Amino acid sequence: MHRILVTGGAGFIGSNFVHHVVAHTDLHVTVLDKLTYAASREALAGLPQDRVELVVADVADAAPVDECVARTDAVVHFAAESHNDNSLDDPSPFIRTNLIGTFTLLEAVRRHGKRLHHVSTDEVYGDLALDDPQRFTEETAYHPSSPYSASKAGSDHLVRAWVRSFGVAATISNCSNNYGPWQHIEKFIPRQITNVLDGIRPRVYGDGLNVRDWIHADDHSSAVLAILERGRPGETYLVGADGERNNLDVVRSILTQMGQPADAWDRVADRAGHDRRYAIAPDKLRAELGWAPRFHDFEQGLADTIDWYRNHEAWWRPHKDATEASYAARGQ
Ligand code: NAD
Ligand code: TYD
Repeated sequence: MHRILVTGGAGFIGSNFVHHVVAHTDLHVTVLDKLTYAASREALAGLPQDRVELVVADVADAAPVDECVARTDAVVHFAAESHNDNSLDDPSPFIRTNLIGTFTLLEAVRRHGKRLHHVSTDEVYGDLALDDPQRFTEETAYHPSSPYSASKAGSDHLVRAWVRSFGVAATISNCSNNYGPWQHIEKFIPRQITNVLDGIRPRVYGDGLNVRDWIHADDHSSAVLAILERGRPGETYLVGADGERNNLDVVRSILTQMGQPADAWDRVADRAGHDRRYAIAPDKLRAELGWAPRFHDFEQGLADTIDWYRNHEAWWRPHKDATEASYAARGQ
């Protein structure tokens, strides 16, 4: 393997993965990205030009996808519409990018006989009760709740069908909620950090007891690379770092670390269909591939992330008003 194609490589996790690959391998990387509102050229700045190239294209557009797949050895597929709240406002781009885009890529990979790794989410499994002793495993039944998670579930099913029916050499990973630098400020943690920086009280949906299983994006990247290099084709691997926390705990940590009273947040309208709890059992990934997360201390990872947003206001500031205006329109 000498060259890989990374779709969605200008997004939050995709760009983290590109940096990880450049630092830890000799691979050449072609990024295929449509550069939607969620993308950031800055996140790819400073990478060696002889190692990384950017092709601006839509993953649902067959011609550029075919051309890029033809000249690569393997594909890592991050490109997606990724925000649940947006999918409730308008599901159509989620269907086009997450379903038609994955289908388009699968057909190119099949035509050219290339290895594929498909990046997905634990949200395909629906939610767990707060007191459920179980966590998600590779055997958990699919039960998606939102247009976003349903479109990701559908994309996983397409990948599995192309493996079984056409012998495509694909792996799938389903990861829990990521945090870290370069995450769009529409998402929970950076929204609240940038709110506090702006003197706005954090906004918590519903009772705030919903649990997410937080993992640093660097750890997600190392897991995806391990699966690409050593995963068994046809297999699914769950990615998580034992990071379960409820939203109120996270908001209180952000407030305390930023020198505010822990109760200086506001409750807002709940999300329609809001999943209660996600939790990953990452045993297979750890046992089979020897993967382990590097970030064990969420408070430290959060502190680093707060510092990063403090120091990168020029990056997020242009998006803040529009992001908050769309939340205000939803009463959130
Ligand atoms: P993101 O929204 O930050 O980035 C998505 C990237 O995909 C952007 O660069 C965007 O321009 C690109 N893109 C969107 N539509 C495209 C299209 N039609 N053609 C080409 N490029 C397109 O998303 P993210 O948070 O980095 O998530 C990346 C992947 O990881 C997604 O597949 C997501 O489902 C999955 N995932 C995310 C999380 C999380 O916590 N963020 C957790 C598990 C899995
Ligand atoms: P989010 O970052 O949108 O990720 P996901 O929907 O994929 O889990 O939201 C994380 C959690 O935070 C989720 O339970 C919804 C909640 N949330 C808030 O309470 N307030 C907010 O302003 C946002 C954006 C999310």
